[in-house]
Amino acid sequence: MQSFKDKINQDQLPQHVAIIMDGNGRWAKSRGEKRTFGHKHAIKAVREAVNACNEIHIPYLTLYTFSSENWNRPEDEVDTLMSLISETIILEAEEIFSKGLRMHIIGDTEKLPAEVREHMQHLVDITKNNTKGNLILALSYGSQHEILSAVKKISSKVKSGELTEEEINEKVFEDHLYTKDFPPVDLLIRTSGEVRISNFLLWQIAYAELQFLDILWPDFGKEDFFKCIYNYQNKERRFGKTSEQLNENI
Ligand code: IPE
Ligand code: IPE
Ligand code: MG
Repeated sequence: MQSFKDKINQDQLPQHVAIIMDGNGRWAKSRGEKRTFGHKHAIKAVREAVNACNEIHIPYLTLYTFSSENWNRPEDEVDTLMSLISETIILEAEEIFSKGLRMHIIGDTEKLPAEVREHMQHLVDITKNNTKGNLILALSYGSQHEILSAVKKISSKVKSGELTEEEINEKVFEDHLYTKDFPPVDLLIRTSGEVRISNFLLWQIAYAELQFLDILWPDFGKEDFFKCIYNYQNKERRFGKTSEQLNENI
């Protein structure tokens, strides 16, 4: 069978893909295992997504790894997740580096255990000159908090006179988000069958194409990713215009 990869048009790739990697707990439960078993098996799917992205040269991939709300899960699950994140970063560091990927972290990282923060920071530092693609991990990330922080930073600049109210526009606002160096999200994928955003990149997905898959995250593979890109390329992104207007420009 032909791979979806061969059907992808290299001239129409999304610049930024974001993934809500959901369904680990259900995947484990369906096998009579504990939720943490699902988190362990999620790592292979992360590798698949990163490799697929790298193979077709999508420059930005953001992975929702741990939300600000996930801190409310049982303590042992949070501990296991933090250890897994830490271990995975150490184990995958060389691979990420050798692929030429640049690592970024977005979120309220102060809340993370020192060990996780240090390993993350190390990977961010050693990959800072890499140019083959950007891998962005959303860790302890909540979009409402990000937006509120931006509002607070901007209002304090207005208060101090560094910025006037008239100067505030979309661009200025974006410059105060964690994602200021990244393009807007073109394609958002969520696995597990849930059709919700769960406080992820609310501003950045304003015009993203959304795809919700009935696959649990540990089962996600490269072919699923390529299929999402293929489906994305078959959408007409109108950005408010009419179909006729878009066709006139060709
Ligand atoms: C996603 O899988 C992983 C994290 C949120 C950290 P879940 O753990 O949410 O799995 P389900 O949704 O309960 O199946
Ligand atoms: C969203 O999944 C967060 C991550 C995938 C990291 P959740 O499983 O936490 O989302 P809700 O709570 O079901 O909306
Ligand atoms: Mg979930």
